Amino acid sequence: MYEAKSSKLMVLGIAGSPRRGGNTDLLLNQLMDGALSQGAEAKQVILSELSISPCRHCDGCLKTGKCVIDDDMQWLHMNLRQADRIALASPVFFMGVTAQTKAMIDRCQAIWVIKYVLKLPVAMDPGKLRQGMFVSVGGTRSRNLFQPAIATVKSWFKTLDIGYSGELAFSGIDERDAILHHPTALKEAFAAGQRLATADLAG
Ligand SMILES: Cc1cc2nc3c(=O)[nH]c(=O)nc-3n(C[C@H](O)[C@H](O)[C@H](O)COP(=O)(O)O)c2cc1C
Repeated sequence: MYEAKSSKLMVLGIAGSPRRGGNTDLLLNQLMDGALSQGAEAKQVILSELSISPCRHCDGCLKTGKCVIDDDMQWLHMNLRQADRIALASPVFFMGVTAQTKAMIDRCQAIWVIKYVLKLPVAMDPGKLRQGMFVSVGGTRSRNLFQPAIATVKSWFKTLDIGYSGELAFSGIDERDAILHHPTALKEAFAAGQRLATADLAG
């Protein structure tokens, strides 16, 4: 069957917090609204509602680039390889990303194999510019609060052949809707979504 290719940019939003309607969810929703306002196609996944087991390091993907675990990661892999833009949202949990987010990231070992072992293109359309950003909050105001999570996300984006276009991160945000009381955060998230959805985004 012939399927017309959409000329719209596909922005994939990934909600990595287990707390539904919490701070990173609110930021991600704003970001996706900003992307939509630029005419992008927006898709959102909520990791806590998906079945994604941790990587077993069974090396089952080593020859094929396909993960042997049959769960929601199978279709998410395709979305990750198709997206033009990715916005990953996760709060800081013990200085890293949430377990839901890390499980999803680790399961991209199969994509790592596609890129570094099989030496095949990761992106479904390798000619397209792919960019991503990280959205985060943390309850404390610790020094370098976001650095370990940013390092993880950068390493993941690199495997996915996605350029890192920065983070939107707010410290001192702990209660479920604390971000609503921040003077600029939601507006910043909307603007970030608008920027992310523009084709000529700088890397
Ligand atoms: C298991 C767990 C670990 C956490 N670890 C940290 C931490 O290391 N540093 C920090 O500043 N906040 C930490 N927090 C606080 C969360 O980052 C904070 O509550 C955040 O607002 C949650 O975002 P959400 O509403 O999007 O889920 C932790 C919270 C939980 C439940």
